[in-house]
Amino acid sequence: MLKNKHIILGITGGIAAYKSAMLLRLLVKAGAEVQVVMTPSAKEFITPVTLSALSGKPVVSEFFSANTGEWHSHVDLGLWADAMVIAPATACTLAKMATGVADNMLVTTYLSAKAPVFVAPAMDLDMMAHPTTTRNLQTLQRDGVAIIEAEAGELASHLVGKGRMAEPETIVAALESYFAKSEQWAGKDVLITAGPTYERIDPVRFIGNFSTGKMGYALAEEAAKRGANVMLVSGPVSLKAKHPNITVVSVESAREMHDACVQAWPAADLAIMCAAVADYAPAEYHHKKIKREGHEVPVIELVKNPDIAAALGQSKREDQVLVGFALETDNEQANALDKMRRKGLDFIALNSLKDADAGFGVDTNRVTLFAADGTSTELPFGTKAEVASSILNHINL
Ligand code: PMT
Repeated sequence: MLKNKHIILGITGGIAAYKSAMLLRLLVKAGAEVQVVMTPSAKEFITPVTLSALSGKPVVSEFFSANTGEWHSHVDLGLWADAMVIAPATACTLAKMATGVADNMLVTTYLSAKAPVFVAPAMDLDMMAHPTTTRNLQTLQRDGVAIIEAEAGELASHLVGKGRMAEPETIVAALESYFAKSEQWAGKDVLITAGPTYERIDPVRFIGNFSTGKMGYALAEEAAKRGANVMLVSGPVSLKAKHPNITVVSVESAREMHDACVQAWPAADLAIMCAAVADYAPAEYHHKKIKREGHEVPVIELVKNPDIAAALGQSKREDQVLVGFALETDNEQANALDKMRRKGLDFIALNSLKDADAGFGVDTNRVTLFAADGTSTELPFGTKAEVASSILNHINL
């Protein structure tokens, strides 16, 4: 997986920097081309000579070469890389990355990197547990940085706790798994729906629901991050898609969402129906605002909206994968399985409105994934980004 991959290995000033030499050796052995970028304080812990001998390339640390005055371009480095891994990542470097303090070559390279970035934090247990570090790691995670969790054990201070850098083998495995995933997803066409639909009653009122689009947008970001071309058919939400591989098609009503999806489906390898589609729409649209004064209480007749997932299920080819969501309040499993069968889905992701930390609006989700082959998996509880990643891990394209 790592053969011929261009990897920037960022090393910062912590005692775990000695393990970076082993990490570098493993990366080179796996066939990767590695460019080491060190912070000035990293050189107190391991010498550039060791690292340049192992990588076969001069180590970059300063903006300018002291001997020749040559400028080291962080922009070129950022574009060259297929991945950047910062190991060890000290509390200081994590803070600089989270806030954009670009006062060294490593942080400027991070800010210029177009490729995915991994950090392997390493520090003393109290620094690791400090709210500042937690906040910075959360910020980086929101910015799309993958955290390779620190391990617990004896630390340089002889205290025992969480703060040891992940072992070099674990870091290599994380990179391999990333490249394996991106090979599976690269160039695939993925259709995702997100958010609510609004069904207009009159120019000021509509029937809608509480979906914010967070789950659907998280799925879109994750699929795009893995290399897929994503068409995100989105109901009215206040979110913005970040990844350049995502094309957003904004719709309002279930009918518009249906038409966009039916048109895109034949060219898609995968569709994930995460939108909370209104099942009913007013039979009649009042072109003028319905007045309160001098009128009877209006009766709004409803008609059924098209079932988008079922429409895609009916025309699904063997080589396509169709995933639905089920949002339930009771008889969760039975209702979800029934929906999967009726709509011709390959998978259904069940989330329940009974869980306060799942479903509408919140940043986390709790999902059980049922497959048409009869298996089911309770996915780990986590942020919607983490749950999106778990869902995609179950899909073979
Ligand atoms: O957007 P968030 O605030 O982050 O909330 C996320 C979510 C709770 C909306 C999401 O996780 C979720 O559960 N989405 C599906 C909600 C839903 O409408 O479930 P359902 O059980 O009513 O529908 C079952 C499936 O059929 C869904 O895949 C739905 O997209 C699809 N459907 C439903 C009705 C319809 N007319 N057409 C459809 O395609």
